[in-house]
Amino acid sequence: MASDDFATRIIAWQRRHGRHDLPWQGTRDPYRIWVSEIMLQQTQVATVIPYYQRFLARFPDVATLAATDEEAVLAHWSGLGYYARARNLHRAAQEIVAHHQGRIPADPRTLAALPGMGRSTAAAVAVFAFGTRAAILDGNVKRVLSRHAGIAGWPGDKRVEAQLWAVAEARLPQQEVGGYSQGLMDLGATICTRARPACALCPVHEDCVARHTGRTGELPSPRPR
Ligand code: ADE
Repeated sequence: MASDDFATRIIAWQRRHGRHDLPWQGTRDPYRIWVSEIMLQQTQVATVIPYYQRFLARFPDVATLAATDEEAVLAHWSGLGYYARARNLHRAAQEIVAHHQGRIPADPRTLAALPGMGRSTAAAVAVFAFGTRAAILDGNVKRVLSRHAGIAGWPGDKRVEAQLWAVAEARLPQQEVGGYSQGLMDLGATICTRARPACALCPVHEDCVARHTGRTGELPSPRPR
């Protein structure tokens, strides 16, 4: 199958069936997109939305966030959990002010060097805010790709993760990377779910290895114990 084919079907599906009204989709403001991606790292969309709105009302830009003391930032994160995210977000804002003229860098590698970023989050910010062509690989996307490409092994394993990154890179389309990336995330969140995936509704089920081999329940492989 041409990898483009995969992307084309994901993009078409995203247009018709993906999510279009999430609060961070109405903006190209890198700061807003960055905050959303950090909150979404370990928290589901429905939980994130009210926190996201309160956080941005209180800290509308990088400069405001950087100038606030950590306690106030943590207070606005209270309830979301994984507080290291808030501490790193705050530190990263200070680094952006100190070393990047207060502007969020557009380059995924520069972004990935900021506290709390990581390769996939950096790519998501670069894609959604700047239209950069970069591959994302968050938990949902790992599930979609490990099933579709039939990659066994626990995705937390470095070798397995490297294979998944290679698939993610190889399938990246030349155009419409934003719609494609959002489509992969939405597919993972709504169709290619961990339990009982709705394969009949999936735009790429025809050539999904896990589906063909009856292994959607086994892929991605759980952490070995
Ligand atoms: N999870 C991570 N990033 C996301 C995004 N931009 N939209 C929906 N869910 C996400």
